[in-house]
Amino acid sequence: MAEDRREALRIENLVVRFQTPQGQVNALNGVSLVQEEGQVYCLVGESGSGKSTLALSIMGLLPNNATIEQGAIYFDGVNLLSSGQDHMRTLRGKDIAMVFQDAQSALNPVQLVGDQIEEIILEHSDVSTRTANRMAQEMLRQTGLADPRQIMGQYPFHLSGGMCQRVMIAMGLVLEPRLLIADEPTSGLDVTLQAEILDLLRKLCREQGASILLITHDMGVVASMAQQVGVLYAGSMIEVAEVIPTFKRPQHPYTWSLIGSLPRLDEPARRLRTLPGSPPDMMNLPNECAFLPRCQKAQSRCRISPRPPLMELEPGHHVACYNPVVPPE
Ligand SMILES: Nc1ncnc2c1ncn2[C@@H]1O[C@H](COP(=O)(O)OP(=O)(O)OP(=O)(O)O)[C@@H](O)[C@H]1O
Ligand SMILES: [Mg+2]
Repeated sequence: MAEDRREALRIENLVVRFQTPQGQVNALNGVSLVQEEGQVYCLVGESGSGKSTLALSIMGLLPNNATIEQGAIYFDGVNLLSSGQDHMRTLRGKDIAMVFQDAQSALNPVQLVGDQIEEIILEHSDVSTRTANRMAQEMLRQTGLADPRQIMGQYPFHLSGGMCQRVMIAMGLVLEPRLLIADEPTSGLDVTLQAEILDLLRKLCREQGASILLITHDMGVVASMAQQVGVLYAGSMIEVAEVIPTFKRPQHPYTWSLIGSLPRLDEPARRLRTLPGSPPDMMNLPNECAFLPRCQKAQSRCRISPRPPLMELEPGHHVACYNPVVPPE
């Protein structure tokens, strides 16, 4: 029952900037998101649209040159942005875990793989070292690594990119977090393995009631995993569909052009299209709709009005556009 569902995560009006020698990058410009417990929320958008910045903001792991200018991130009713480092440390790894986009550099290069996984387990639970070792091996096996014991005795640089990715996935899943943030977790893995990893994620949701914030470029993954979808463009959420059937009828011209023709969303392994034109300069964002220069449906109104807010066009379907696509029935 939709009305019985609890919120896993609520982000309100998040504004994040990066300071660089070239100027200020406006990475997130007032992003809001509500994710229900036990659901997979897919976040899509072109490279540079702010997906990883959003993920790292939730984890409290933004780099030093980032500032959170505004906003709130609620987990369990507590605003993580004001609850302090200690609170975040107790959650991180156990209640909220993340599979990083660049697995190889997210792992500690000078610590054995096995020790890294065991450390997470021992930090957050009372089990013995032996049990932690067994849990780590079992989890690695589940991510498709044939010889977990051997892998555990290696340093990350001994492993291939795909293997590191699976180690990261094992670290993310081993404590059965209530919220898993997975940033392109299966990119670069072969199709069979990808399907197995996605099954593991589904199992986490189904059996543990976990929620997953899944960042992906792959529309096949969206179609097979998501209950909710959010589309980021230039650091703003421009379309949100709370149920996947709605997303098969996208109304923002950007989403429309990403997905292409309608029913093909369920085509396996469908990648987002590359659009003509380039995304806007994140250091100099326009006041009007940031998609305007690339939009085929732009009208004079779009040029003279401020950036359109998200508007609920049908129940559970929000679109930030003055001239949305009207999907055929
Ligand atoms: N450490 C940083 N310093 C300066 N700018 C950054 C930093 N990290 C990200 N950015 C900039 O912030 C914007 C959002 O980047 P982000 O990595 O969140 O995008 P993304 O949607 O995850 O892209 P991709 O699909 O390529 O992973 C981009 O303009 C990017 O160049
Ligand atoms: Mg990214």
